[in-house]
Amino acid sequence: MATLTLPALIDIHVHLRDPGATHKEDFATGTAAALAGGVVAVLDMPNNTPPTTDEAALRRKGELASTKARCDFGFYLGATVGNAGQSVGIHEVAGLKMYLNETYGPLQLEALSTVMAHFRHWPRGKPIAAHAEQLSTAVVIGLAQLYGRSAHICHVSRKAEIELIRHAKANGAKITCEVTPHHLFLTEQYAERVGGFGHVKPALGTPEDREALWANLDIVDAVASDHAPHTIEEKESETPPPGVPGLETTLPLLLNAVAEGRLSVERLVELTHHGPARVMGVRPPEESYVEVDPDARHLLHGADLLTKCRWTPFEGMRVQGLVRSVYLRGTRVYEDGEVLAPPGSGRSLVLS
Ligand code: DOR
Ligand code: ZN
Ligand code: ZN
Repeated sequence: MATLTLPALIDIHVHLRDPGATHKEDFATGTAAALAGGVVAVLDMPNNTPPTTDEAALRRKGELASTKARCDFGFYLGATVGNAGQSVGIHEVAGLKMYLNETYGPLQLEALSTVMAHFRHWPRGKPIAAHAEQLSTAVVIGLAQLYGRSAHICHVSRKAEIELIRHAKANGAKITCEVTPHHLFLTEQYAERVGGFGHVKPALGTPEDREALWANLDIVDAVASDHAPHTIEEKESETPPPGVPGLETTLPLLLNAVAEGRLSVERLVELTHHGPARVMGVRPPEESYVEVDPDARHLLHGADLLTKCRWTPFEGMRVQGLVRSVYLRGTRVYEDGEVLAPPGSGRSLVLS
């Protein structure tokens, strides 16, 4: 059996739902899913209930994560009308998250003045990450240039967006971006077939959008799962919330792309380890790696997953490439389906 050892993954975009929606996921289950996917560090988004937008919410999340997380973690502060220029959590968070389009939760910003205030005040050395679709992509690029700072565009999904980002980078804008596996491997045809289970923001694109992401993968800085679990009941309801889980399927899907000759191993490591660390300015945990069997073929099944929601948009997909063992700071934390790291063993990526 061939074994390939890779630097462990860093996932800069996950929603672990703790606190507020722990029937969907919590820090213990979400980080178990992370380890099963070869991910040893996650950056958690702020659209919780209550949203992570002030010191009290950050403190609460910190307490929960430090007692429950099995892998390393960091948080985003959610940008609001009220916290622009308030320096909330600047020493505790990995970055600021700004929602400029419709999303899940209450954090969408409406006024240009609010967005400008955040760009003006947020420390230059800390990332601003944006959910920015369509025209909002151009807004983020324009503001980053005007305020002389960097900005990170989350889950790029459309041809025009990735082409605009390519253009911006070529012209010296300090823009970074991530793409998700669901936008790389699925299209709107899938969403039409499976209803609520394919409902995600940004929506799954056309085949042309998907191919544009592949064609421009050379200017993409990171692959992030945007792991956004909702229960099967919620997804089957009349009003399914947007979002799909992804922590456990990112690496098998990318290894399969390597097996198919669509991606090199070097590029996979860049997109899942070095790039994410660089974009978010975090130091990856030492001695942390994943042993994979690049030849093992298997079917992706929601019922096999450790995420609390136990479904996957990649159900039944045949992939080549299996995570065997995961090491975090020299300790084996996952082996052949079993998570060995207890809750509370994860550390903050930001505070030391
Ligand atoms: O599909 C999505 N789900 N898009 C978002 O922006 C939020 C996320 C969630 O938290 O469920
Ligand atoms: Zn988003
Ligand atoms: Zn998200």
